[in-house]
Amino acid sequence: MSFGERIAIKSRREIERMRDVGRFTAEILLELRERAQPGVTTGELDQIARKALEKRGLNSPFLGYGPGGVRPYPAVLCTSINEVIVHGIPGPRELREGDIVSLDFGVESGGWHGDSAVTIPVGPVAAEAMRLIETTRNALELGIAQMIPGNRLSDIGFAVQTRAENEGYGVVRQFVGHGIGRQMHEAPQVPNYGRPGRGPRLKAGMVFAIEPMVNVGSERAKVLEDEWTAVTVDGSLSAHFEHTVLITDDGPEILTRI
Ligand code: MF3
Ligand code: CO
Repeated sequence: MSFGERIAIKSRREIERMRDVGRFTAEILLELRERAQPGVTTGELDQIARKALEKRGLNSPFLGYGPGGVRPYPAVLCTSINEVIVHGIPGPRELREGDIVSLDFGVESGGWHGDSAVTIPVGPVAAEAMRLIETTRNALELGIAQMIPGNRLSDIGFAVQTRAENEGYGVVRQFVGHGIGRQMHEAPQVPNYGRPGRGPRLKAGMVFAIEPMVNVGSERAKVLEDEWTAVTVDGSLSAHFEHTVLITDDGPEILTRI
């Protein structure tokens, strides 16, 4: 990841491309959430995602992704169930009623990227699980609401952290949001925590993927032997939401919402 570099300002023409790829990302993610029912395997969801990409002539930035010598990611989708925070690898596991599952999906087209995630309940779930999902979704919205020219980068994370911690939840530190555009991961890193009023000033034309990961218990995470699956250390439930968002002079524009 090139997180230390300057933050790209996208041109009008580049923004048009990012709107297109963002819309494709949102469309396919919507199809996936409709298919995420009890009895479906996470591997089947990955297959559905592959077909949806193929049908539209789009590429996956997830498949084969492997920074710093990590095992190349083997799927186009991340499926993170219950205590899995992020980067759950699709496989033979069936979704069961009462699970919560994060579906994290990205698209590359013509050299531009979109990245988005949702956490959804599978059938009826426990009240605590719904409260976690709603809190994490709202924390993302409050973080996005800070994406106004003149604000500072850390205003985003401060808003996310405040919302989650007011509910007694832990905000994951080990994984962060990121700039996005020509690459899936660009400068800057966007933590989901921090003190307000720090870091670079936000400008129109910047595009960030904001992705809070919130745990019912401790914020601590560990990565399993498969080199990808990140789980809560205490086994508590975790939720994850993500949008690709453009900063405009009129405020944030969510590129992965349809
Ligand atoms: N939204 C995740 C991220 O930005 C998805 C990438 S995981 C991958 O880090 F390895 F599959 F690419
Ligand atoms: Co991302």
